[in-house]
Amino acid sequence: PRKPIIAIDGPAGAGKSTVTKQVANKLGLLFLDTGAMYRSITLAVLQEGIDLRDQEKVKAIAANSKIQLFANPIVGQPMQVLLNGEDVTTEIRTPEVTANVSTIAAQPSVREILVKQQQLIGQSGGVVMEGRDIGTHVFPDAEVKIFLTASAKERAKRRHADLIAQGQVAPDLATLEQEIAERDRKDSTRESSPLIQAEDATLVDTDGLTIEEVVTAIVNLYEAKV
Ligand code: C5P
Repeated sequence: PRKPIIAIDGPAGAGKSTVTKQVANKLGLLFLDTGAMYRSITLAVLQEGIDLRDQEKVKAIAANSKIQLFANPIVGQPMQVLLNGEDVTTEIRTPEVTANVSTIAAQPSVREILVKQQQLIGQSGGVVMEGRDIGTHVFPDAEVKIFLTASAKERAKRRHADLIAQGQVAPDLATLEQEIAERDRKDSTRESSPLIQAEDATLVDTDGLTIEEVVTAIVNLYEAKV
């Protein structure tokens, strides 16, 4: 039998990455940012200069790309990512990748390839996995399922702070809010495993909560179950 899995899903900018990492550290579990995998394939497609909607070519790129993820030793920084051996940690967070990732993530063949890799990484459990479809598709039998959300305004503010912390150019708040809303719309309305709260997930609205409060709530849920 595998060790327990915590699935953390939710819209862009809800604080999934920070919360995931801290919960994993508190409980001594591994963690995985699955969004970084979709971003990596998007970067590879953009670098090849092929049409993002050419599903055959995109599938070939997804099948032939080797993605490796590592915990970033720097506090507050996203996971380190190697794409075919090259460090793309910063490149997968550019506005160009962010604007196009939902188009790539909507393609069933891309999802099939990445979900298999995620299931392999999590097969023995002991992991906190964050994304959009972890509790609904990747590990529907996860012991703890969280749907993490916050108001659009709050999420735009957090994304703004994240981008600055990562040394990226941050668009103004109204633009960010619009971009986030557009990405959420695409992610929630796609046919293939859309962003949706699993029936058995616990909804955590993080507006007005500190990171610590959110982390403690999830740790408590885990300890009550395991
Ligand atoms: O989490 P992050 O915002 O980096 O995710 C980037 C994009 O990757 C999402 O907007 C979504 O299109 C896609 N994604 C997904 N399924 C996941 C994780 C991310 O479709 N499990």
